[in-house]
Amino acid sequence: MDNNVIKAALLGLGTVGTGVYKVFQLQAPDMKNKLNADVRIKKILVRNLEKAAKKVADPSVLTNNWQEIIDDPDISIIIEVMGGLKPAGDYIRQALEKGKYVVTANKDLIAEEGDELIALAEENKTDILFEAAVAGGIPVIGPLKHSLAANYINEIVGIVNGTTNFILTKMTQEHMDFTQALKIATDLGYAEADPTADIEGLDAGRKVAILASLAFNSKVTFADVYTEGITQLTPKDIESADEFGYVIKLIGLARWTAEGVEARVHPMLIPKSHPLSTVSDSYNALFIHGDAVGDVMFYGRGAGEMPTASAIMGDVFDIARAIACGGRKTARRATFRKLPVKGIQDSVNRYFLRLSVENKPGAMATIASVLGNNSVSIQQVVQKEAHSDQAEIVVVTDLVRESHLNDALMTFRGMSVIKSAPAMIRVYGKLSEN
Ligand code: NAP
Ligand code: HSE
Repeated sequence: MDNNVIKAALLGLGTVGTGVYKVFQLQAPDMKNKLNADVRIKKILVRNLEKAAKKVADPSVLTNNWQEIIDDPDISIIIEVMGGLKPAGDYIRQALEKGKYVVTANKDLIAEEGDELIALAEENKTDILFEAAVAGGIPVIGPLKHSLAANYINEIVGIVNGTTNFILTKMTQEHMDFTQALKIATDLGYAEADPTADIEGLDAGRKVAILASLAFNSKVTFADVYTEGITQLTPKDIESADEFGYVIKLIGLARWTAEGVEARVHPMLIPKSHPLSTVSDSYNALFIHGDAVGDVMFYGRGAGEMPTASAIMGDVFDIARAIACGGRKTARRATFRKLPVKGIQDSVNRYFLRLSVENKPGAMATIASVLGNNSVSIQQVVQKEAHSDQAEIVVVTDLVRESHLNDALMTFRGMSVIKSAPAMIRVYGKLSEN
């Protein structure tokens, strides 16, 4: 093989695939200088040849036949940007078994089978890289594997879904309707093929599984991650968060605690003084806390054609450099310990509660006593609006185990003084600082 011309195949020519194709063109003049090699796309796998022909300069690179790619010994890097578990997973396994390198943006697959695929790559003395699978253009997988590898990481917290951050930004800053904001995010290429994955927190959940596995060196699967999306949030939630000095964000959180790993995705109130509160539109941001380094923050575009292509191409360049030097990059399994994963009931948080109560003497005292009886102590309580027969009470709790909070909420359910199900949103804060 000529180490100076490295051949790659692109699987999929949608939003990300088109971006990768463009970055290949943009980088062509400098590749030799950067890598001591040229990387060229030899084949692009598509479903519809006619549709794809409009997107490329030379339609002869297009094929709808996977066999043409997997059987070509000249192709050493497979870039998978089709998405989904099948056939992407089968193609990736076949590629690794043949000793080809794989670069993928497929978080569904990595969250589900990442451990097995990395092991397969290791067995076949090749590698599978997936920087683009988490937080779009932000380098975070590379830093966890390399620059931060000499740390015990105890927390990763951040915004890891561009679509929902875009929607929440539009709802908060422009009072835009949820459906309209989702449509714009989809048109901009941020959303998944089925945007339910974004708005129900599943996409972010997959990213949290990947991050937690790498950070804690313990396998955390998507099924281990508690997920709650943004579809239940109302303009009233956003408004009252603002009034109390918070911004609502969909937060991904992975924490290593004495009782096990917490891995979860749900809306959280972020104090306006915290940098995450100012992360807007499709931007993502992550705070990683390591024992040696302390806090590190990563920020950038979390979705979209070119930012995601940037992450993909970083991985391609990484592999190309190794090939150009006549060497190989070989995967190493990251998960070598087995930590228990805690359920959400065992997590500890502060909570923001909005209760609609009967406007009569003693209502506030009744609420305080139910919370107290369930070991929920109150940090702040405010009676907001009072109309003739109804009042709104807002409570911010101290740190409390979620199961205790839920016991209190269950008790509220049967009480006539409570007029409707209380709105509950968790409040972000580091455990030690609360
Ligand atoms: P997309 O726009 O839907 O593109 C996927 C492309 O793959 C489509 O062109 C589709 O063809 C093609 N494809 C699907 N199955 C195929 C098959 N069996 N054979 C050949 N082609 C096939 O999706 P995307 O947004 O580019 O996302 C691709 C991957 O990147 C997903 O894993 C996604 O989660 C991940 N990702 C996306 C972003 C982002 O911002 N969009 C960011 C990070 C990671 P058709 O056109 O015929 O359907
Ligand atoms: N749909 C994803 C998002 C794409 O909005 O963040 C990037 O992973």
